[in-house]
Amino acid sequence: MTHRIAVLISGAGSNLQAILDAVEAGTLAARVTLVLSNKAAAGGLQRAARAGIPRAVIDHRDYADRAAFDAAMIARIDEHGADTVVLAGFMRILTPLFVNHYAGRLINIHPSLLPKYQGLNTHARALEAGDHEHGCSVHFVTEELDGGPLIAQARIAVAENDTAASLSKRVQRCEHELYPRVLSWRAEQRLRLTDQGVELDGERLPPQGRQTALAAMAERH
Ligand code: GRF
Repeated sequence: MTHRIAVLISGAGSNLQAILDAVEAGTLAARVTLVLSNKAAAGGLQRAARAGIPRAVIDHRDYADRAAFDAAMIARIDEHGADTVVLAGFMRILTPLFVNHYAGRLINIHPSLLPKYQGLNTHARALEAGDHEHGCSVHFVTEELDGGPLIAQARIAVAENDTAASLSKRVQRCEHELYPRVLSWRAEQRLRLTDQGVELDGERLPPQGRQTALAAMAERH
């Protein structure tokens, strides 16, 4: 059966677009069953509409608490079916209820070389720290925010004249290559989370995940 992916967004959805493009190009053998947003105005919803993908808006403000919001999302996602649930710029903190329901099949992308710079403003923080390299990470989601087992990372060099905006642009281009690639590992059943850690092709990955070479990494500032 074709691997089913549900994508959760809150914003522009450029990572969602990269996933849809990879499906269209045949490099990601999966079907996006649902795009779910907590914001009606999220640009990613239009991208889903253009691709003919079912969409849902579940506004967190309509729910008494996080648990009720998460339960509503679970019901909707499971109605459509998902072998992997993909967080792509989804800006709500998820409860243990949600995270455990999708244990081992919930994945996030984060714009830093985790464990560095969990949370927001990652590009500015990397610059402030004087880092010479920066990048993005894809990880399984656990109860610890931005702290789950790492699957893959892509690194870029930080130039002296980089700004948070220029870094963000280059890191995003890496994200758009890295995320569909990791999801294709899932779709091909090569990637799983075990009690010992992340396994790719039957081998345990190191704590920082697979260090991945991408075309976008060679881009200059
Ligand atoms: C990405 O930078 C991702 O790393 C972070 O949120 C951003 C989403 O961007 N989690 P987009 O909505 O996919 O364009």
